[in-house]
Amino acid sequence: MVKVGLIGLGFMGYTHYQIYKKNRRAKVVAIGDYNRDKLEGDWSSVGGNLGDMAREKEDLSGIKTYANPLDMLGDPNVDVVDICLPTDLHHDMAIQALKSGKHVFSEKPMARNFKEAQEIAKAAGRAKGFYMVGHCIRFWPEYEVAKQIVDSGKYGRVEEVFLRRVANPPTYGDKNWFMNATRSGGGELDLHIHDADYALYLLGKPKRVWAWGSKGPSGGIDVVHAGLEYPRNVHVNIIGGWAYHAPFPFNMEFCIRCEKATLHYDMQEGKPLTIYTAAGKVIVPKVPAGTGWERELDYFLKCVEKNEKPTVVTAQSSLESVRLIDAEMRSIAAGKAVDYR
Ligand SMILES: NC(=O)c1ccc[n+]([C@@H]2O[C@H](COP(=O)([O-])OP(=O)(O)OC[C@H]3O[C@@H](n4cnc5c(N)ncnc54)[C@H](O)[C@@H]3O)[C@@H](O)[C@H]2O)c1
Repeated sequence: MVKVGLIGLGFMGYTHYQIYKKNRRAKVVAIGDYNRDKLEGDWSSVGGNLGDMAREKEDLSGIKTYANPLDMLGDPNVDVVDICLPTDLHHDMAIQALKSGKHVFSEKPMARNFKEAQEIAKAAGRAKGFYMVGHCIRFWPEYEVAKQIVDSGKYGRVEEVFLRRVANPPTYGDKNWFMNATRSGGGELDLHIHDADYALYLLGKPKRVWAWGSKGPSGGIDVVHAGLEYPRNVHVNIIGGWAYHAPFPFNMEFCIRCEKATLHYDMQEGKPLTIYTAAGKVIVPKVPAGTGWERELDYFLKCVEKNEKPTVVTAQSSLESVRLIDAEMRSIAAGKAVDYR
């Protein structure tokens, strides 16, 4: 049984808490948040897409509470620290937690900027515990199966990829931190990084990056159209952001054209992952049950249980995703393509 200390009890912290409750590998033994109501089990202020989940008072008996999450790092009962704090707080907490010898799971993005992410990667390299960032799209069933299909080479090489992730502005955050680009990095770092990370996971590093971005309600770049250029004329196009007017619904979609088939998924349309083959067949492959959030946490718990370093998401690959966002930012500012490798 892996004993978890959860830091930050907002939308993601509460989501993780619910997942751990159902996962037989884990037990939440400690929680940390500066909001004392939450430490008493009153999570009615939690926002996001939780529906009625957080309306009941949670029974936290047997769980240690920390108003200063740093104090949790000295708790010998905690094996894993799970950081679900706002993005600008990831850096300090991750470094302290790694120094304390705990295993660390951190929500994405790894950090607010490339320099901070580099410092975390360095600390992770020296740490006794494992470190993994919650790049949940690598574990999201449709995306995971699409990557397996591409890697199998069954339909030839990839020729073109389109990734789209759109939402209305998240205004539910603690002190409205998402809408402060200095803290969140805007929709570009916070939301679009899911697809930037997936592109790197699927195809590796591009040769060049060309991005266009527009400012939105966070005061930063909230919508981005990014083009990633790969050798052999392979292109990835990503549209992502959160400037769409509420109640515009969240959606994620991808289309991956290989030499001998096109793979398509559209969550909002309720369309399953579908393969259209060059031979005219339409195939709906089986995908695993669960969400990427459930699957990534289960993977990390298994790694800790078996004492095997996580390989699906590493500190270096998470750092690379922040570097790609950084390159896109430079391209947006310069109004031209930038070399990447
Ligand atoms: N993987 C995903 O799909 C996904 C989705 C949403 C958010 N996230 C990420 O998860 C992280 C958290 O986002 P969220 O939506 O849960 O935010 P949130 O605002 O809902 O929750 C943040 C929590 O941190 C607590 N907190 C803030 N400052 C603190 C401090 N100094 N000390 C102690 N506690 C503090 C708040 O009280 C709150 O409970 C962010 O990095 C975000 O980018 C990931």
